[in-house]
Amino acid sequence: MIERGFVAGATGLTGGAVVRHLLARGAEAIAHVRPDARDLATHRAAFEALGATVDTTPWEQAAMTETLRRLAPSAVFALLGTTRKRAKQEGARDATAAYEAIDYGLTALLRRAAEASGVRPRFVYVSMVGLDPSRDSKNPYTQVRVRIERELAAGALPYTIVRPSVISGDRDEARAGESLAAGVLDGALGLVGALGARRLRDRYRSITGDALGAACVRLAFDAEAEDRVFEPDALRA
Ligand SMILES: NC(=O)c1ccc[n+]([C@@H]2O[C@H](COP(=O)([O-])OP(=O)(O)OC[C@H]3O[C@@H](n4cnc5c(N)ncnc54)[C@H](OP(=O)(O)O)[C@@H]3O)[C@@H](O)[C@H]2O)c1
Repeated sequence: MIERGFVAGATGLTGGAVVRHLLARGAEAIAHVRPDARDLATHRAAFEALGATVDTTPWEQAAMTETLRRLAPSAVFALLGTTRKRAKQEGARDATAAYEAIDYGLTALLRRAAEASGVRPRFVYVSMVGLDPSRDSKNPYTQVRVRIERELAAGALPYTIVRPSVISGDRDEARAGESLAAGVLDGALGLVGALGARRLRDRYRSITGDALGAACVRLAFDAEAEDRVFEPDALRA
């Protein structure tokens, strides 16, 4: 079987790493870039230089279904998301509305399109550490992930869910809070590890976008990872 990955969120930290790790594995990589991206030409040139194909299907259900039917990927990576800061910059009413439209809305559209395409790709979803999909959350960011995980479990597609803690790495856009969170978190966990609670440390330690991308690609093509969930300690293997 040809290994072919369709990467939604390819311009992001984890998405870019997934594209690179697909190609390093000898798999085909299709990098999805939103058609209205300001720097579409730059993204296209960079991805094509790596050996990836660029797809710019609009975020519409019928169009995305048709694209996935035509491209027949063996894995679809859902790596979409926004932040409070970006939501504000892009004029969203508030962060809750932005999480609903992007983190939930685009991911759910992609899942439905993958299901309707009839090609049964593995759906690889990046969720968040420690999520319990059996419990609703009052936090809108968390609740979006609860809903997507439930839909994957109830749906017809094979899936793999990864639940990282903080994702760190070089970003075009500075995220001081995230770097600080990763530093403080890892420092505190180092102390916890020194005190003997190694399992806790391994569970919550941050992961680089590159390491997470490598894990997503490895698990996407691992038959044993089908319909399973991976917490941070399992992602570093
Ligand atoms: N960062 C963390 O610490 C963390 C922790 C746990 C889970 N996660 C989740 O893991 C996933 C990957 O995280 P990441 O940090 O690698 O993501 P990221 O670098 O912020 O990239 C997000 C991706 O979503 C796309 N996107 C955002 N708004 C969009 C819109 N309106 N229309 C179309 N595409 C849009 C971006 O495309 P453009 O470049 O075109 O904007 C980009 O490709 C996300 O779902 C995130 O919520 C993150």
